[in-house]
Amino acid sequence: MNITEKLNDILVSLFNNVLKIEEDAIKNSSRHNLSITEIHTLAAIGPGKAKTMTQVAASLKISVSTLTSAINKLVNKKYVNRYRVPEDRRIVKIELTEDGIDAVKEHDDFHKRLVNDVLSELNEEEQAVLFQSLYAINDFFKKQRIRVIKGDTPLKLMPMTLGDVTIPVPIFQGGMGIGVSLSRLSAAVARCGGVGVISAAQIGFLEPDFYTNPKEANIRALKRNIREAKEAIKDVPNKGLIAVNIMYASRNYDQFVEAAVEAGADMIISGAGLPMSLPGAVKSNKVKLVPIISSARAAGLIIRSWTKKYNRAPDAILFEGPLAGGHLGFKEEQLDEAQEQFYDTIMEIKEEIADLPGCPLIVAGGIYTKEDVQKVLAYGADGVQLGTRFVTTEECDVHPRFKEAYLNAKKEDMVVIKSPVGMPGRAIRTNFTEQVEKVRIPPNKCNRCLTPCKSNEAPYCITQALLNAAKGDIENGIVFSGSNAYRSNKMETVEEIFKDLTS
Ligand SMILES: Cc1cc2nc3c(=O)[nH]c(=O)nc-3n(C[C@H](O)[C@H](O)[C@H](O)COP(=O)(O)O)c2cc1C
Repeated sequence: MNITEKLNDILVSLFNNVLKIEEDAIKNSSRHNLSITEIHTLAAIGPGKAKTMTQVAASLKISVSTLTSAINKLVNKKYVNRYRVPEDRRIVKIELTEDGIDAVKEHDDFHKRLVNDVLSELNEEEQAVLFQSLYAINDFFKKQRIRVIKGDTPLKLMPMTLGDVTIPVPIFQGGMGIGVSLSRLSAAVARCGGVGVISAAQIGFLEPDFYTNPKEANIRALKRNIREAKEAIKDVPNKGLIAVNIMYASRNYDQFVEAAVEAGADMIISGAGLPMSLPGAVKSNKVKLVPIISSARAAGLIIRSWTKKYNRAPDAILFEGPLAGGHLGFKEEQLDEAQEQFYDTIMEIKEEIADLPGCPLIVAGGIYTKEDVQKVLAYGADGVQLGTRFVTTEECDVHPRFKEAYLNAKKEDMVVIKSPVGMPGRAIRTNFTEQVEKVRIPPNKCNRCLTPCKSNEAPYCITQALLNAAKGDIENGIVFSGSNAYRSNKMETVEEIFKDLTS
């Protein structure tokens, strides 16, 4: 027998043995009469708070109707309680009974014993080798599953078709607020075949009436930037798209969306909250809609809600991981764990959206090199979004001192700040970020830009701090940046970045 045959034998028999031992353990249980599928259904409900049928079906990756027949049996066997929520009788919740909790505990104990028994036969060094080998094999199999969904070219950035439009090179430039990504950068990206994204966040900061009439100033500047970008690329062959990033937490969100559509934006990208009402504000089916999410669950929620309420599905899904710049869609204490699970989350989201015909997945957060691009493609991404790398380009719209802050930054200067809007944010350390860790700097005026921010309690004004940096007053400002900003060591052109990432 050669090594291939031997390895194949070991893998097949390992799989069968674990399954058999698990089945036997469940069958021989003195206390419970359950099948392996039933045990896994109980484990998905878990001993904690009651869950909805949709939540449990999503975590088991089965339909709600399949789950319903399984739950009927478990209710009859008295392992599960099912009830309607008194405040909203349309919602059905399920929870484990005492017996259900006991069965899940018994099953968890069995798994712990199994692993401990295996480990007890090995010394520390052997345990580490076993862990690394199994991790690598498991990683390989996960990628195989993605190959089945994605086809045979998982490592190539293939042109991306969204209904009636094609993006020749599916590289998105992240929307970067307060003057970082405006018409010039977005047009340069679309000229190379990618998606150039104008950020609507406080885009009117240079308008004369910005402090007296922020809404009008922002809408005027937004429309002007979209028209300038579209005009700049109108005769370019094989061009990409001009998109607008509008934070769902923005005050006057609907009006910004309507203004972007009116000025001719090809796509609206929206995060900082789940953009549940986006299709209602857009109306036109021609404008592509892309929600930014941070988990497979959030993707499922958006898909179900948009389909039910607007009969419309997202044109693409954008997953932004915890290494991204700006406001992050994770709690600060979740950041490390979310990064450990980054590639698993890509696969989970890919599976979640696999049933939506033609809905590609774009992945963002910490992508800087061609190798980074290839890695996320291998895990199921169809396209990528980069923010940080595009800041140090000739075409980036921001003040030169902002770009210098990137070029001068060292790894230890990368910080996570607490934003007054209640989310963590990634930035480069400045005097200002040091100061607000120690004292409150009360906002002296407030233009009520983001709904979650309460100016009377806010530790500082995020808009003012970002504005200072955007105008070049770095030390009194916040320089948002992804975790890779310290890798910027030269100015580039957008075209050079496209060549580097796709060569
Ligand atoms: C300076 C800066 C400003 C940003 N502003 C926004 C924003 O206003 N809205 C948003 O959704 N994302 C914002 N982001 C996130 C980017 O759009 C992008 O998804 C992210 O930076 C990707 O990660 P990377 O920077 O590691 O490539 C910002 C990022 C940076 C670096």
